[in-house]
Amino acid sequence: MNEESVCLRSAYADEAKDRVRVVKTENSVCAKKVVDRICAVKTEDCVCAKKVVDRSCEVKTEGSVCVKAAGSRTCAEPAGANRKGIRMSEQFISDNIRYIGCDDKDIDLFESQYVVPNGVSYNSYLILDDKIAIMDTVDRRRSDEWKNNLTAALDGRKPDYLVISHLEPDHAGTIGQVLELYPEITVVCSVKAAQLLPEYYDPAGHPMITVKEGETLSLGAHTLQFFMAPMVHWPEVMVTYEQKEKVLFSADGFGKFGTLDTEEDWISEARRYYINIVGKYGAQVQKLLAKAATLDIRMICPLHGPVLKDDLGYYIGKYDTWSSYRPEDRGVVVAYASIHGNTAGAAKYLAEKLTQFGEEHVELMDICRCDMATAVENAFRYDRMVLAASSYDAGVFLPMEDFLIHLRHKTYRNRKVALVENGTWAPAAKKTMTGYLKAMKGIEIVEPSLTIQGAVKAADYKVLDEIAKAVHEA
Ligand SMILES: Cc1cc2nc3c(=O)[nH]c(=O)nc-3n(C[C@H](O)[C@H](O)[C@H](O)COP(=O)(O)O)c2cc1C
Ligand SMILES: [Fe+2]
Ligand SMILES: [Fe+2]
Repeated sequence: MNEESVCLRSAYADEAKDRVRVVKTENSVCAKKVVDRICAVKTEDCVCAKKVVDRSCEVKTEGSVCVKAAGSRTCAEPAGANRKGIRMSEQFISDNIRYIGCDDKDIDLFESQYVVPNGVSYNSYLILDDKIAIMDTVDRRRSDEWKNNLTAALDGRKPDYLVISHLEPDHAGTIGQVLELYPEITVVCSVKAAQLLPEYYDPAGHPMITVKEGETLSLGAHTLQFFMAPMVHWPEVMVTYEQKEKVLFSADGFGKFGTLDTEEDWISEARRYYINIVGKYGAQVQKLLAKAATLDIRMICPLHGPVLKDDLGYYIGKYDTWSSYRPEDRGVVVAYASIHGNTAGAAKYLAEKLTQFGEEHVELMDICRCDMATAVENAFRYDRMVLAASSYDAGVFLPMEDFLIHLRHKTYRNRKVALVENGTWAPAAKKTMTGYLKAMKGIEIVEPSLTIQGAVKAADYKVLDEIAKAVHEA
């Protein structure tokens, strides 16, 4: 054990006890796992470890619910749901379809907002046949490494096609260099991508094929078939089905945070990725799933995370649940934003009560300090939530408002929510929180609610007991 881990353990001792107590029915070794994970990262990659440890240390004086948040991602899934991270060596697809993507372990924030403690992979593939197709490129952060992978896989040959599924720079960042290296290469993309491509690169002089729904392109023995997937994540997105080996190149769909050598459940980081990155576009994902259902798919090759080879129904089932906004598990998120700690105390008491009632999944989240993307993920994962917040300038304390704005943006819906507010002179948090919730689809407010004024009093604890019971029975 190193210095950082000792520091984390002692600094978080009290909070960790709370946390483990609350989540113990799920997996009591969570805290240990998380701390070990942080240490492990350090030995692997100093820059990255420092970032992770700093992130934790930043919040240590106030208690680390952040570590809890990360911990919840490593908690055990229901039996049978475990899907471990898949190592680079297992990215083998076939003799003719090669993985040429790259891991990025030192990115600070993915899309400038998501913490990725285990980095991210930018996947790219090469299909070797009479004709050769490059399936997307990588972020320019990894251009050199990718070009080396490409050259090695090409083994002296020249690529004929560059298939662009998605123009977002985490995949399209190296297109310009490909066009320079291979002036005769033919770009293959959707009509919308062809319209948007000049916003990033000048394709003048390059042959281009724009493909429409269901159209095919023969490479020899392999045939690519294209299906449009607008807004799964950007408007120009398409997926490609390779008919011979029955491989779906799924663009951002079925992706996951974390580099390919990360040992972690697929589900934890795939869910946080999906809910936060694609979550708003459930209807479009449903349309894509309907198209996928007509294909015989043996393997899914996404643009992030491991290639999915076995038990594809499991992954497709998760996408169906998430994109239809159904709760995935029965459980309660107790999310609190407390200025001076009184509301925090009430939230912890409530979480404890819920656990005593036999709730197996209770996620206590300090919205002021935890990873926002994990809070959003958990809100979508479970069927019930309690929001507890201080009043602030005739409204709700801003971190809670930020959380609600995130939920609104991702079109949070079809859940049951109870409310606790605190205010010293003119409580206003509940009214503001209710305003947000009423504007969302299918939100049922669970009664009673509670208004605390300053410190939590004996009468308040009685109402908290009632709220816990009502939420448990909801
Ligand atoms: C900048 C600021 C603005 C506040 N605005 C209000 C307010 O509009 N109405 C109110 O009743 N209390 C207001 N409060 C008091 C908090 O809501 C107070 O912290 C709360 O009653 C106690 O809960 P806590 O310990 O969880 O923060 C404000 C406090 C601060 C620091
Ligand atoms: Fe994307
Ligand atoms: Fe992406």
